[in-house]
Amino acid sequence: MIFSTLVLLCAVALAGAQTPAASQSFPIPSILTSHVPTRPPYLKTPVKRPFTLSTVVDWGRMNDWAQVYNIYRDGGGSCSLYNRTFWVYCDTTAYSKTTGKIVGAASNSMTIAMDFSHPNRLKDFTMIPSTGWKPAIPFTDYEASFSGNVSSRYALWTYTNCVQLSETRAMHFFLVQKFYNSYSSIQYGNTMAIYTMDPVTNQITIERPEQYWYLNTTYAYGSFASVVVNNVAYLYGIDTSYSGNYDVHLAKVPVGYETNRNYYRYYDASTGGFSYTMPVPTARRQSSAVIQGTEPFSTGTVFWSDYHNAFLLVFFNNWVDSTFRVLSAPSPIGPWNVSNTVLYHSTPGPRQTNGFNYGGNASPIYYQQPGQVAGKDLLLQYTYQNTSNRYAKALHVTFT
Ligand SMILES: *[C@@H]1O[C@H](CO)[C@@H](O)[C@H](O)[C@H]1NC(C)=O
Ligand SMILES: *[C@@H]1O[C@H](CO)[C@@H](O)[C@H](O)[C@H]1NC(C)=O
Ligand SMILES: *[C@@H]1O[C@H](CO)[C@@H](O)[C@H](O)[C@H]1NC(C)=O
Ligand SMILES: *[C@@H]1O[C@H](CO)[C@@H](O)[C@H](O)[C@H]1NC(C)=O
Ligand SMILES: *[C@@H]1O[C@H](CO)[C@@H](O)[C@H](O)[C@H]1NC(C)=O
Repeated sequence: MIFSTLVLLCAVALAGAQTPAASQSFPIPSILTSHVPTRPPYLKTPVKRPFTLSTVVDWGRMNDWAQVYNIYRDGGGSCSLYNRTFWVYCDTTAYSKTTGKIVGAASNSMTIAMDFSHPNRLKDFTMIPSTGWKPAIPFTDYEASFSGNVSSRYALWTYTNCVQLSETRAMHFFLVQKFYNSYSSIQYGNTMAIYTMDPVTNQITIERPEQYWYLNTTYAYGSFASVVVNNVAYLYGIDTSYSGNYDVHLAKVPVGYETNRNYYRYYDASTGGFSYTMPVPTARRQSSAVIQGTEPFSTGTVFWSDYHNAFLLVFFNNWVDSTFRVLSAPSPIGPWNVSNTVLYHSTPGPRQTNGFNYGGNASPIYYQQPGQVAGKDLLLQYTYQNTSNRYAKALHVTFT
């Protein structure tokens, strides 16, 4: 009797503390990049500043210049926790600096910004000798059983920023893809990664609460962009199946409830409100989309700019023209001005005939230091392709 009560108590305790589908921790180098987070107002008047640039400084390749290996990577995004700035990249390969031969690869990797005034300086804390080639975002045991098989493997790739939820916690969305050979893959859905930074032990823990957060039968909310406003996380997902990447759909969840599906609500532009009912993507749902682009979207970042007095969406379209464009809105739900103002045309790499840049994103936190007006300066990041490989490049742009 006593025994069975105990068992019952344990079962209740376990149900409360949800077991993640995958979890792992890494020690992180103690490198601080402090900034003052913006406090976006909920509703504001329209844009006051033009989207013209006064200066562009090309910082070239973002890299850990002291790494043991020569590292190539693509995609990626950043966020800050406890004054540390993390970058997460997709497919990462390590080459020996002496032989030039590939020594290891992982589906994704993490690194930390060393110095906001030198954005091309990173410090890798995965893909180093002490971690080997395990991906930063852990595979489930089932996914991991396919690792190392190039013709049949899982990939966890992100092309967007993580979003800070509290001083020590962030969320990030990754597409879950399975390759059946070098050319064909199926995207099964997306997954949520939760980052928890422990400033005492200097560790970051990366958890995936479930293998999939959204299956591919719904929009991949969060995979395009995320922004937190007044303790609410807004998660944007592109309709890739029916809109040709023109429509963006929106979910929201109160910060602190992000791992509980019951708290998610979905935007419907036709009513102008959110409901617990998700629009079902069995056809194009233009009337429920939060943004109907006049160009198709590929990757981007939504953030509040004090300088422009507006939410900005800085993005790449999917015409592979290597050009950063910007949309603006007075609130995260719009109305979005879809005039696609060109910000900057980045120089494509020499790879074959189509060395286009991809994975364009903005990192506003680099220029949110005391004495700066947030949004006046941005770090723009993208993947560059030279003839042999792909790597991240950074631009520091300043608005007029
Ligand atoms: C981060 O840095 C800023 C500016 O130096 C400081 O005001 C703030 O307290 C720091 N935050 C944390 C969590 O250490
Ligand atoms: C890799 O996966 C393919 C397809 O599932 C399978 O036929 C093959 O045996 C696997 N190879 C190895 C080395 O596991
Ligand atoms: C979605 O996932 C299912 C398996 O769950 C797969 O059969 C289907 O091909 C996927 N759809 C797309 C559009 O990738
Ligand atoms: C939309 O943005 C364009 C370009 O920045 C601007 O010229 C136009 O006035 C804006 N429209 C509205 C309605 O604010
Ligand atoms: C590609 O870029 C890397 C990094 O700048 C450089 O070391 C390498 O030589 C380049 N390869 C070619 C073929 O241009």
